[in-house]
Amino acid sequence: SKSLVVAIDGPSGSGKSSTSRGVADRLSLAYLDTGAMYRAMTWALLERRVDLQDPDAIAKAADDVRLTSGTDPLDPTIHVDGIDVAGPIRGDDVTGSVSLVAAVPHVREMLVDLQRETIAQSDGIVVEGRDIGSTVAPDAPVKIYLVADPAARAARRAAETGASDTAATELALARRDEIDSTRAASPLAKADDAVVVDGTHLTLEEVIDTIVGIVDAAR
Ligand code: C5P
Repeated sequence: SKSLVVAIDGPSGSGKSSTSRGVADRLSLAYLDTGAMYRAMTWALLERRVDLQDPDAIAKAADDVRLTSGTDPLDPTIHVDGIDVAGPIRGDDVTGSVSLVAAVPHVREMLVDLQRETIAQSDGIVVEGRDIGSTVAPDAPVKIYLVADPAARAARRAAETGASDTAATELALARRDEIDSTRAASPLAKADDAVVVDGTHLTLEEVIDTIVGIVDAAR
């Protein structure tokens, strides 16, 4: 039988990563964090001093970057040219410029190809991102669009990063969502057939339970 693909998309800070890892762990599926891939590409380009205001320079330099993603939900690794970048890709410099890199069509083509290879090689996988249900895996039998109120997303993200200014965090999330949802190349969008899950008033366990229920009903 065809292996199961669960697509989980949504805006920044909606709890996609913890949720997706939890769902994959509960269902013994692999896990792919596509945001980490765009972040790792951004880290590599910053290391190479590429001008991130220049889409042509980004596209050219991106060809030489070799990304590898581990798919264990309990230990999702990410390497650039063999270097473990799991820590550095969460830094403010990467977070502040990743949306510029992710808007470049050639970068998206490269990473979507890698993502589809990983999906094809897996034996069932949860894939999280912005365009999984719409572009990367349009045939996925389960598509979730995970949302939460901006204030709840900012509070969650501030708690993760240790930031004390949740208003600034909320503004930064809103800026990133604005760029991600207005770019020309596969913008952040709910697929027509995605199920919206609103995590604003739910605990992490409740969101995981909800999605596991949707997956069980679909297979
Ligand atoms: O999910 P995360 O916040 O780590 O994603 C970082 C950035 O990567 C997003 O803000 C977006 O610009 C980009 N991204 C994307 N498409 C995906 C996943 C992430 O454009 N499928």
